[in-house]
Amino acid sequence: MIDATSSVRSVAQSHPGATRLFALLGIDYCCRAERSLAAAAVAANVDRDELIDLLSRRAPEIPPVTDKDWFAAPLTEIADVIVKNYHRRARRFLVDLLDLVDRLLSAHAAARPELWTLRATLEELGRDLIPHMAREEQYLFPYIKMLEHPVAGDQPVIIPLSGSVEYPLQGIRHDHSHDLEYLARIRSLGSALTSGDQCGRLARFIALLADFDRDLTRHIKLENDVLFPRAVELERAIARRKAAT
Ligand SMILES: [Fe+2]
Ligand SMILES: [Fe+2]
Repeated sequence: MIDATSSVRSVAQSHPGATRLFALLGIDYCCRAERSLAAAAVAANVDRDELIDLLSRRAPEIPPVTDKDWFAAPLTEIADVIVKNYHRRARRFLVDLLDLVDRLLSAHAAARPELWTLRATLEELGRDLIPHMAREEQYLFPYIKMLEHPVAGDQPVIIPLSGSVEYPLQGIRHDHSHDLEYLARIRSLGSALTSGDQCGRLARFIALLADFDRDLTRHIKLENDVLFPRAVELERAIARRKAAT
């Protein structure tokens, strides 16, 4: 039974897959393993309940995002949907896929050697994507929300180093290009798995890969095509208004 008071060390020793999850989320399970999960979650800027759900494999189902006219939606709503839905789903997909690929490797490594490359590619994508999403949640999205709802009085204001949202967006878009390259590689490796006999677990893995591919592609498209251009436009409009007064 895992709860917020469990130590990182005890969970790392007792739960298969915990150390990989800690590594993906940037939680130190070596030198600072005596910390509670609650303290480790705060230090790694990870939601405590989500961490416990991921470790105990009892996360509630997170529904996919329903289509709507995102060009008309407030930027705050878009950022919240991305964080609460796409980001949580991406972490859940990665944990489930890595768990499944390990189980498949233990049974089918000789017959399906491409599973090794798939596992390595999923791990590489996770090492890029999870810190990327954390940067969006900690810095970029709060700034975009602040453009829409300027903070008042003595509340802290988050300003990109360059003074414009366009500078951090260059790095974010660069990350997205890498993510899409990883997805293309995963798609190609996944399609090779569809030939020949498939056990139930392999069929589930192939279906989950396709769901992850679709979800992450939509997530990146919503950021690249809607949220970011609209944030840039809003920031420019605010600058124009300020210059005119
Ligand atoms: Fe994102
Ligand atoms: Fe992103």
